[in-house]
Amino acid sequence: MDDLKIAIAGLGTVGGGTVTLLRQHADLLAARTGRRLRLVACAALAKPANLPLDGVPFFSDARVMARDADYDVLVELIGGANGIALDVVTAALQRGKNVVTANKAMVAHHGRALAELAEQSDATFGFEAAVAGGIPVIKALREGLAANRLSQVYGILNGTCNYILTTMRETGREFGDVLAEAQSLGYAEADPSFDIDGIDTAHKLAILTSLAFGTVVDFSKVHVEGIRHVSAFDIRAAEELGYRIKLLGIARRTDGGIEQRVHPCMVPIRSSIGCVEGVFNAVVAEGDFVGRTLFEGRGAGATPTASAVVSDILDIAAGRRTPTFGLPAKLLAPLKAAAIEDHRGAFYIR
Ligand code: HSE
Repeated sequence: MDDLKIAIAGLGTVGGGTVTLLRQHADLLAARTGRRLRLVACAALAKPANLPLDGVPFFSDARVMARDADYDVLVELIGGANGIALDVVTAALQRGKNVVTANKAMVAHHGRALAELAEQSDATFGFEAAVAGGIPVIKALREGLAANRLSQVYGILNGTCNYILTTMRETGREFGDVLAEAQSLGYAEADPSFDIDGIDTAHKLAILTSLAFGTVVDFSKVHVEGIRHVSAFDIRAAEELGYRIKLLGIARRTDGGIEQRVHPCMVPIRSSIGCVEGVFNAVVAEGDFVGRTLFEGRGAGATPTASAVVSDILDIAAGRRTPTFGLPAKLLAPLKAAAIEDHRGAFYIR
């Protein structure tokens, strides 16, 4: 049985979950692909003592690992749109290596360029873990729904915000108090303002838009508002009217072009996404032949995100290949953005 050699850059929450999954399910993964998934290198600022990494060469500089180590797949779990994460991924792709990442900010800002780089050497650039944690929504849009003309894709894309809004409703506590709890559970970004100001949701929405509509990822055209100003009183008032407040990312095809927006919405409690609570995410996609589809699952945290990371590694191990955004990167159309209508006041969605 031949090996697939894996190098991991970043050993934080998701890196730790990925190492654990690869170890714990080693036999299952080998049986499913006919190859052993072997960890041959790892990189972080310091080697965590609590992970099963004995005998795995350790690099304190991920750039050196990306450039010099012998691997088939580089897994980037450092985060950040630029800087070391982008250097590491670019170096690996320039060597013709496969890359798997959970880095939504990097894909939202550089997705097309990185996809083109990967395509030059027939390498895979996988980012299933970048959107909605453990829900396989990238593969669903790129493959499962590929026969449809999609009209819209929307949903709850940030586990931290949904956890905060749910806990505020259940306990009556205020926003700042609950944020610290979401951070301690490992859901929040390194800079949690990315979560609460809607930027993380916007990164993910920009990626979904590209897959749904065959356009380049264009984060600059997302209208973004977060949940910082939502109070426990707002949540109670919505509840009394039969609604939950949810931070949604919404991308729609309109006559004026593609509309992308992120903001808190009033969602009926009894609707399919109104009852999605805690760290769970939900994504709705509507296609002309399939109709309405709904995907739900844990949107953040070590184990669901590791599940998505390893699903991309399995595709590489098994030789399953699909263009990064569903079609060759050079064929992605520019995004013609629709003007965003004023949505202030109650915004209802079914
Ligand atoms: N901070 C992100 C969230 C992590 O809460 O959804 C998963 O992308």
